[in-house]
Amino acid sequence: MCIMYVLGIESSCDETACAIVDDKKNLLSSVVWTQPEHTEFGGVVPEIAARAHLEKIQSIVKTALDQSKLNFSDLSAVAASAGPGLIGGVIVGVMTAKAIASVHNIPFIAINHLEAHSLTPRLEKDVPFPYLLLLTSGGHCQILICYGIGKFKRLGATIDDSAGEAFDKVAKMIGLGYPGGPKVEKEAKEGNPKAYDLPRPMVGKPGCDLSFSGLKTAVRRIVETGDYNTQDLCASFQQAVLDSLCSRLKNAIKIFKKECPNGTNIVVAGGVAANQALRSAIENLASRYGLKFSAPPLKLCTDNGAMVAWAGMEHHLLGDYNSLDFQPRPRWPLDPNTNR
Ligand code: KG4
Ligand code: ZN
Repeated sequence: MCIMYVLGIESSCDETACAIVDDKKNLLSSVVWTQPEHTEFGGVVPEIAARAHLEKIQSIVKTALDQSKLNFSDLSAVAASAGPGLIGGVIVGVMTAKAIASVHNIPFIAINHLEAHSLTPRLEKDVPFPYLLLLTSGGHCQILICYGIGKFKRLGATIDDSAGEAFDKVAKMIGLGYPGGPKVEKEAKEGNPKAYDLPRPMVGKPGCDLSFSGLKTAVRRIVETGDYNTQDLCASFQQAVLDSLCSRLKNAIKIFKKECPNGTNIVVAGGVAANQALRSAIENLASRYGLKFSAPPLKLCTDNGAMVAWAGMEHHLLGDYNSLDFQPRPRWPLDPNTNR
């Protein structure tokens, strides 16, 4: 039987990435280039990111093809992250994918970057729809029910910062550098999570919305005293984030169980899903409620091409393509009834 291959391109933030998957869930190649240009600024500079994507994209695509030992003519479809994200970078990825589609006469698929994160666990394991989803990255923090490809209902979202942003800002305050998540996690491993009494925003309130800006301010006040222990502060901050996320997820589980009595899985996806402490906290929570826990493998939590290629494959298998007129969308909510 003929094997299908989809190439996926990611360029919505500071990773220039390309990967190829087949319809048997084999990841044939995955190349991720994290732009080093932003480190000195402590965050991503959109104009620098766009130019850096443009400089790298062709060689990244070529490397991904070479590593897979395929040619453009072997591809069944080409997919790109088409939003939400930094528009300059998104345009670079979308234009590259459209050019490949046009020259090689294959379908183009515009992928919602958040959907790509959300579907990644299905590349590794059989995670059936519907599932409860915590999507937590640098730009987003939402709790949703995923009913199927392109079918999401948002139960809650952050009312201010995302969890990833909070990790990044705390890391910047204490001089750990960017991206902050992995650095804060490393310090937290050696610290006491009870050393500092930090707020747990939204905990105990009804609903599934989240908030992290009060927590970030509380950390800032401690940092400004100049008298703190980095490891203890990181551990206490990380614990407060985990407590907030788990408490809001508990409310979401109740809604999920009511709306989807046949649902069996909780998925956590997005860059912050790489956090081991978060993974085990949600795994524990899931088992307490009789649910299975799924998350992408660590290297596929932060932005990568494999998640886009896999989401592309899911759409390709449904024959769901986009025209070459498709306009990149800097804002593109998963749930069309919401604005983020
Ligand atoms: O999904 P992603 O690569 O980009 C967006 O779509 O935003 O997520 C990046 C975010 C950053 O804020 C980064 O600090 C956070 O994910 N992150 C982590 C960890 N690894 C990455 N946060 C906490 N713990 C980690 N181990
Ligand atoms: Zn992302």
